[in-house]
Amino acid sequence: MDLPDFVRSGNQAVDPELYDIENEAIDRSGHVWDELERLAPWTGRVLLDLGCGSGFWLPRYQDAAKVIGVEPDTSLLHIAQGRTGKAQVLHGSAEHIPLPDDAVDVVHARFAYFFPTVDFDPTPGLLEVGRVLRPGGTLVVIDNDTEEGEFADLLKASSWATSQGQDIYARDWWRSKGARTTTVMSSWEFDSRGDLEAVLRLEFPEGVAGDWLETHPDRNHLSYGYLLHSWYQG
Ligand SMILES: C[S@@+](CC[C@H](N)C(=O)[O-])C[C@H]1O[C@@H](n2cnc3c(N)ncnc32)[C@H](O)[C@@H]1O
Repeated sequence: MDLPDFVRSGNQAVDPELYDIENEAIDRSGHVWDELERLAPWTGRVLLDLGCGSGFWLPRYQDAAKVIGVEPDTSLLHIAQGRTGKAQVLHGSAEHIPLPDDAVDVVHARFAYFFPTVDFDPTPGLLEVGRVLRPGGTLVVIDNDTEEGEFADLLKASSWATSQGQDIYARDWWRSKGARTTTVMSSWEFDSRGDLEAVLRLEFPEGVAGDWLETHPDRNHLSYGYLLHSWYQG
């Protein structure tokens, strides 16, 4: 399938193994997972992980009736397809989901596609999600909080990351679509300082990562705020 809208990710597609280490560091306290479960429980339901990347999170949905991953990047799709036998992993994108109407109960999009900015309007993806969600179904978009927490401080210092947009714009965009935004404060916790250093250098320009590492010499963790945008199919 030709997916002209798809933009290859600058982190996971560059180094999928290192991005696994980043994913392992995310939310070890489970605060984000608790909130996801509250907003859109998936036990016994059909769940779509949209923009699932290399499928790191697919095994986490063992309690779903069915798990589907959709990913546009064929290099990551291949890894995702081997992640768990429970998941069906399909080539597609937010704008082109290869599923029939009313096929799923819950959609999660984690750091994938839904980054509204003055230059990018993800309405086509939202319409497509609305098509595949059953009435009463829920989309939850997991995004960075660019205001609160130490990760937000790094984002503020980084020109790469700010191109993904600011909280106020994203919050207003989601509100205009009838969605609700909740905030969750969690953390990145790495097994080693080396892992933290490698991931910071993957995600941020050298000056930003280097400055943070120099001013926090004994740290393997940092606070990390999330925005969860939840949108209900009427
Ligand atoms: C930062 S990665 C996150 C992957 C995965 N959700 C995770 O948390 O491990 C962003 C993902 O969004 C995917 N992506 C890019 N454009 C997309 C689109 N138009 N529709 C769906 N996914 C897209 C990328 O290929 C990549 O896999």
